[in-house]
Order: sequence, then C-alpha cells, then structure tokens
Amino acid sequence: MCGITGYIGRENCTEHLLKGLTRLEYRGYDSAGISVYGNGSVRTFKQKGRIDDLKALLPSPLYGNLGIGHTRWATHGEPNQKNAHPHSSSSGRYTLVHNGVIENYEELQSKWLQNAPLTSSTDTEVIVQMIETLSLTGLSTKEAFIFTLSELKGSYAIAMIDRDAPDELWVAKNKSPLLIGLGDTFMSVVSDAIASIHATNQYIELKDEEIVRLTSSSASIETLQGEEIKRKPFKASIDDSDIEKGPYMHYMLKEIDEQPAVIRSLISHYSDGKGEIDISSSAKECLLKADRIHIVACGTSYHAGLVGKEYLEKIAGIPTEVHIASEFVYNTPLLGSHPVFLYLSQSGETADSRAVLVEMKKLGYPSITITNAKGSTLSRESDHTLLLHAGPEIAVASTKAYTAQIAVLYLVAKSLMKTTRDSSIKDLSRVAQSMEAIIDHKENYQALAKHYLLESRNAFFIGRAMDYHVCLEGALKLKEISYIQSEGFAGGELKHGTIALIEEGTPVIALTTQTGTDPNIRNNAKEVLSRGAHVLFISTENTKKEGDQNVIPSCPELLSPLLSVIPLQLLAYYAALEKGCDVDKPRNLAKSVTVE
Ligand code: M6R
Repeated sequence: MCGITGYIGRENCTEHLLKGLTRLEYRGYDSAGISVYGNGSVRTFKQKGRIDDLKALLPSPLYGNLGIGHTRWATHGEPNQKNAHPHSSSSGRYTLVHNGVIENYEELQSKWLQNAPLTSSTDTEVIVQMIETLSLTGLSTKEAFIFTLSELKGSYAIAMIDRDAPDELWVAKNKSPLLIGLGDTFMSVVSDAIASIHATNQYIELKDEEIVRLTSSSASIETLQGEEIKRKPFKASIDDSDIEKGPYMHYMLKEIDEQPAVIRSLISHYSDGKGEIDISSSAKECLLKADRIHIVACGTSYHAGLVGKEYLEKIAGIPTEVHIASEFVYNTPLLGSHPVFLYLSQSGETADSRAVLVEMKKLGYPSITITNAKGSTLSRESDHTLLLHAGPEIAVASTKAYTAQIAVLYLVAKSLMKTTRDSSIKDLSRVAQSMEAIIDHKENYQALAKHYLLESRNAFFIGRAMDYHVCLEGALKLKEISYIQSEGFAGGELKHGTIALIEEGTPVIALTTQTGTDPNIRNNAKEVLSRGAHVLFISTENTKKEGDQNVIPSCPELLSPLLSVIPLQLLAYYAALEKGCDVDKPRNLAKSVTVE
C-alpha cells in the first residue's frame, strides 16, 4: 500500500522517479507526488489522481540529482492534493514520503507539535514536523530522525530529503517493505524492485527498525540503536519484460493467460524431472509433525486456502483449519501441542497475515509461507518458504497467484503421502493443457458477461463442496473489478435466506464440476430458476447436461478449481471491460495491503 521511490546519483532523477512510480501504481493510486532537489531548493509537485495526472503538472525539464516520489492509497485524510505526499516541514528543510500507519500520531502531535501548524490531515506530516522541531533544539538530522523514529508506533517506510544536505538521502523502515537499489551511478530506494529494475537488478533488503544514509555511491545501514549493519546485495530475478503489458490491454487478462505457463513453471520447480514431486524436505518435515495445520490468509489467498484445506485433509490426512488473518486475533482457535502455521500471500507483505505470524512466532509455533515474492516480509520471517513462481502479478485482482497457490498446496499435500509415486505431475500438466483450451476461447465469456451480468446490480454464484470455494473467489473477482454486488453461496444455503433476493432476471452462476454434488446443485438452480433467476451453468465434460451454456474440460475432481476459476475470472474481466471500469486498478483498492 503506497509506493515509494527515491534517487540520489549523477543523472537526472525525475525520469527515474516517474518510471518507478508508474510501476508502483498497483500499490495505491489515489494521488501521487514527487520532490526534486536542484539549485539549492526542493521543488514539490503533487496531485490527486494517477501518475499521469502528476506528469501533466510537471514543468519540463525538471532537473535534479536527488528526489523522492510517492503513489498513495489513503489511510489518514481523504485522497486530495493536500494530503498527497511528499510532505515538508514548516521551514521546508525536510521533505519526506511515507508508507505505513503511525498509530500514535495524535499523541505525538500534542506532545511535540503544539506550535507547528499542520497543513494536512495525514499521520505522515507529524513525522516530518517532529524531525524539524527536534533539529531546532540542536539535534543533527540523523539524531532527530532516529529520535522521531523511536517514538513512532506503527509501520513506516520513509525516504527523506534534507535540503541543507543534498548529498544524502535518509531512509528508514519498520514493517512496511523497502529495498535499496544499487546502480553504477546512483543509489535508489524503492518499495518493490520492479520500480527500478530497468536501472539495476542489485538490491539490499532492509529489516525493521533500520535506517540508511544513502549517497550517490554508498549505503550506510544502522539499527535504530546505532549498530552498523553490513548486508550483501541480492540479485532480483525479475525481467523488465515480465512487467510490461505487451500486446494486452490489461495486466489482468495477461495474467489470466499466463496461468498454464505458471502451472508448468511449478511443475518444473517442484518435481525431480522424473515425474516425482520434489518439495523442500525441511518444509515437509515441519508439516509432518503437525497435529493440525492452520492456514492464515486474506481475500483471494484465503479462498485458495479453503481449497488447500481439502487437499491437506483428504490427501495428506492432516486436520486443517483456514483463518481469515484479520479475524484470527478475535477467534484464536484452541491450539494442540504441534500446530503448524501456513501463511498464504501472493505479495508476502499483507499486514493482517503478518500480524498473526508475529504473534504465533512469539509463542514458538513453526511457520511456512507460500508466496509469490521471494524475500518478502512473510517469507523472511517464516521458518520455511515455498514460492509460487508465477512472475509478477500486477493487476489488483489476483488470478494467477490463486491458481499457483492451489497447485502448490496440492503438490505439498501429495508430497506428504507415504508414497509420492502417483500421477500428480502428469495430472497437473494435463490441467495446464485444459487451461489453455479454456483460454483459447476466452471471447465466449465476453458474450456471456454481456448477456448475464451487465444489466444487473447484483449476481450470485452457487456451488457445493469444492465448487463453493471457487464461487467465493468468482464473486470476489466480479465485485472488485465490475462493482456488481456479487456473493458466493453454498448451493444448499440459498433457501435459508438469500433466495429472498432472487428477482426476475437476477443472474445466478451455477458451478458444477463434481459428479457427487451435481444433482444437488441442479436442484438448487431449479429453485432460483422458478423464481425468475437467469442461471448460467458452468459444468464439465463429466457433469454436463443439455442446455448448459458453458462446458469446460474434466480433470481429477480435486483439481477442478484450477480450471473452473478461469471462466469466473474471464466473466469478471469482460463484465468490467464492458462496463468501462478500470480493470487493473479498481476503485478504493491496492494490490499489496500493508496496513492492518
Ligand atoms: O498478497 P496477498 O495474497 O496476501 O493479498 C491478499 C488479498 O489482499 C488479495 O488476495 C485481494 O483479495 C485481491 N485483490 C483479490 O483479487
């Protein structure tokens, strides 16, 4: 949530900042701003709206060797120009950008800033004003920075310019992600390596409560307590082309199309080349000791977790519970003697999931993170990591990460069986082919979306067992990008209340991929059909009946979510497209939810 870029070096920073912000826009896009140091002063430009709105505001050329930029997802204060970052101190000496939430900002304001009038409603402005207030008491910038940081409660990633010392850029991090990029002629600071991958693939990871003084050729890292840190850079394994849209109009469609390739990539990463599953033995040993597995996740990852529970129980025979991360603290389950926590997170940065990890680590419980982001916070802080190998997922609506999570959970569950000599790898590779078969006919879903969804203010997805889990995901996809109110229901549950909402023409998508539950879901569909609903059946070669509007290939039933979710992703995509919505950047959302 919120994206930060910063640059100090020998070239003009403006281009670097803007390119980085464009790539970080997935993290928040309600306002954006940059500050550039040149000719003895810091010039700040900020604007409500997207990076393109900001660009339209900038003078040309805007030249400087030191600069910071920010793209915002509002937490404190409405998304407007005044609350957009960067924020400056009263005298203009300090200017900073911030990602995170300062929980005690009101307390700090009344303690330190009674004489400093604030110009915004943000928690961030308190930080910059406090640094200036402290510097006026005689503290150096470093001392004022460290003192302020040690007073903050909450999360922060910060990049700060001191106008009186333009050969340095100050950086700090706690809980919110931040990386230092090392170039030949510059140093950069970014929320995600994709923001400066065009300029460098060498990064240094920052840990919580660390500060950095960057110059154009050095990065000096210290803890808040003054301990010097030496850390080797790592090579970011992203390719510039992975983050381009190519011929696609939207990242979401590109990412839907990439799903067969992601399954193949997982097969190559998690098999031994002879058709057998090969999952890290330490993660396996950890899971085999579990008396119960607790999957913790949010949103789409939570929905993947529901499918994962089926695998871990039905294939591996280990009792498993799935928890919405933000609810865990209120509904902490009774834990046995050997619980193991499995965190599912595409970004690896989700604050709600991390909060659970931090608490469970304190209690000493083992943790495994399944994530798409190598080196992400959840990955670093867990005992074991299994990667999704899905390549960057940029559209806010998650698609390929969902199928990748399910495939990894399937392989994990299979690897826990006494014998792994089975057909899993072959089955997955057939699933990849079937995914392609569905995707090859994606235009069909445009017509279906137009026919069933466009005129409606709401839509229901019904399914049973595995199909029910996929319905929850299908409904989330549709609502988040098309704003059609959509809910997923267990087919049998409709008649216990929700059927009251069915009117003439209400779209109901009935998913039926399991032979055992097909008769029941057909009955549920009749109940809504007789009340005027427009039912769109999505069935498989094994469950199809005359009149079904969409039939997808069959596969082993446990793997069906990998296929059946694709029609739902495509329906959501085309519904949003037809409605003229901003598919990749739906309103009010951000890709990486780094606040609790
Ligand atoms: O990065 P994570 O998987 O932890 O993110 C969890 C959710 O925020 C995410 O899945 C969200 O629900 C997606 N926008 C749904 O498409």
